[in-house]
Amino acid sequence: MKLTSLIAAGIFFAAPLFAQEASDAVAPETTTELSAVALDEAVAAAQLAKAAGEAVTAQSWMLSVANPYAAQAGAKVLSEGGTAADAMVAVQAVLGLVEPQSSGLGGGAFLVWYDAKTGRLSTLDGRETAPLAARPTLFQDGAGQPLKFFDAVVGGRSVGVPGTPALMQEAHRRWGKANWAGLFSSGVALAESGFTVSARLADMVAGDAERLARDPVAGAYFLPDGRPVKAGELLKNPNYGQSLRDLAGMGVGPFYNGKLAKEIVAKVRNDVANPGVLSEIDFALYEVRERPPVCAAYRGHDICGMGPPSSGGLTVGQILGMLEQHVLTDAQDANAWRLIGDASRLGFADRGRYIADSDFVPVPTEGLLAPDYLVKRGALLSGDTALESVAAGTPEFDHSLNLADDEAIELPSTSHISIVDSYGNALSMTTTIENAFGSRLMVGGFLLNNELTDFSFRSHSDGVPIANRVEPGKRPRSSMAPTIVLKDGKPVVVVGSPGGSRIIPYVAKTLVAHLDWGLDAQQAVSLPHLINRFGTYDIEEGTSAEALSTPLQGMGYEVKARALNSGLHMIVLGEGGLFGGADPRREGIVLGQ
Ligand code: GLY
Repeated sequence: MKLTSLIAAGIFFAAPLFAQEASDAVAPETTTELSAVALDEAVAAAQLAKAAGEAVTAQSWMLSVANPYAAQAGAKVLSEGGTAADAMVAVQAVLGLVEPQSSGLGGGAFLVWYDAKTGRLSTLDGRETAPLAARPTLFQDGAGQPLKFFDAVVGGRSVGVPGTPALMQEAHRRWGKANWAGLFSSGVALAESGFTVSARLADMVAGDAERLARDPVAGAYFLPDGRPVKAGELLKNPNYGQSLRDLAGMGVGPFYNGKLAKEIVAKVRNDVANPGVLSEIDFALYEVRERPPVCAAYRGHDICGMGPPSSGGLTVGQILGMLEQHVLTDAQDANAWRLIGDASRLGFADRGRYIADSDFVPVPTEGLLAPDYLVKRGALLSGDTALESVAAGTPEFDHSLNLADDEAIELPSTSHISIVDSYGNALSMTTTIENAFGSRLMVGGFLLNNELTDFSFRSHSDGVPIANRVEPGKRPRSSMAPTIVLKDGKPVVVVGSPGGSRIIPYVAKTLVAHLDWGLDAQQAVSLPHLINRFGTYDIEEGTSAEALSTPLQGMGYEVKARALNSGLHMIVLGEGGLFGGADPRREGIVLGQ
């Protein structure tokens, strides 16, 4: 069913978006609410712009998100005078339905917020948390050897306490203007009346059918009559509709202290093949944490993002900080990619050694971004061939550290939301259930995360502890890098991406593409990928980047052409307004007004 007919039938936005009593709610007559037809036309125009490689432009507000249904839900909120935080709630509620493999109520997220009124940047940590009963051996067999990745992922063992519902509510509490309940109307309507399955979702279900079938609930939903849902099919999810109705009506109480907490705990613990150790106490103790933003200077800008437990902000900042002293000629120059690739390898070496949940492990956050440290690390790039070997450095720190290098495996997954509202607030949020389809366990119409496999499966290496080992109540290290770039204290870029640990180089190179090479938002996200984290240079297959394979091999790199499925969503706040790009490798679009 088309969105237009849902809206025309009055199914959308049945709950009023703005509460009468909200003192600072925007009066409807001051807003420029989009009609259903205008929304459909905007989606068509956005898809054409993306296909043509053109940035979308707007003057008042903009969002760039991973799915047209979610974009429409957010656009409706923004056009009615909602804030970026309001729109995020509506977007996330719909993403959890139409892109369930990537993010949702069963997962976690990090959010960076620029507040136009105060000029302040805040970061919220809604990361999943390990159960109190988790031990460093969680992902080891009886002989102390790491489990195979998917043996750890599928089932209850990998599930952490979800943080996304709490983060949605906390962001709305701090920065929302709209009526909370009204923000779920699009999600509820789509869940109950059905949405059209996208090609991407259908392909991913088909590719994961065997694992999904292990949970009868996930199997019945994704594999009706035993065969994978098809692209173009209408899919209804009344259980998800009910979960959204509960969230809309009662807030997150029942999620963390009631019915859903009980159901999730039971599902995790009763998983016969691979039970987990979550308990209701873990849910009751869950909290969103405000963390200090981490910012690095680059070409006269402040590149700001999420600190530990994410490595995103620190490692993106380190890569750019090391590149600051070098000239990056252009995107066709192999030497520019040598510099970017080896800066990335050096950043990843520090990340593997030092970054984990700073509530459990002392992390040299300031030392890793200290200008003199980055100058020293960046000077290692001054040759003209690939670095032969790369190791963690020794950033300044007031603790003595003896840590071994991390071995966590992170496969591409996740979703990114970029929003600028009509008040000038900016939101950058990366949201995930970790692996595609998470743990494959389904409760309340949504999938449960497998975020605990972002911990290192080994706790020690040759007797030396690994910072990102499993510990009770700890949050696994992430690569998510929701980013807001400031110039003279004002936001100029909002960006982020899914992609496992490749998120970090995706975001760093997109910022280079815009800040060094002057590419606009759409050109920057479309630019073919060249990614180096651990030595091998991954080159996006079937693109012009393959022309760089031979020169990079000549510099000493092993190269590998492969699909590189980023999902970059970028908004540039420029002189003439807002300019948005959505990743051509996925289904996202930009809408704005
Ligand atoms: N699970 C993806 C990340 O947190 O980086």
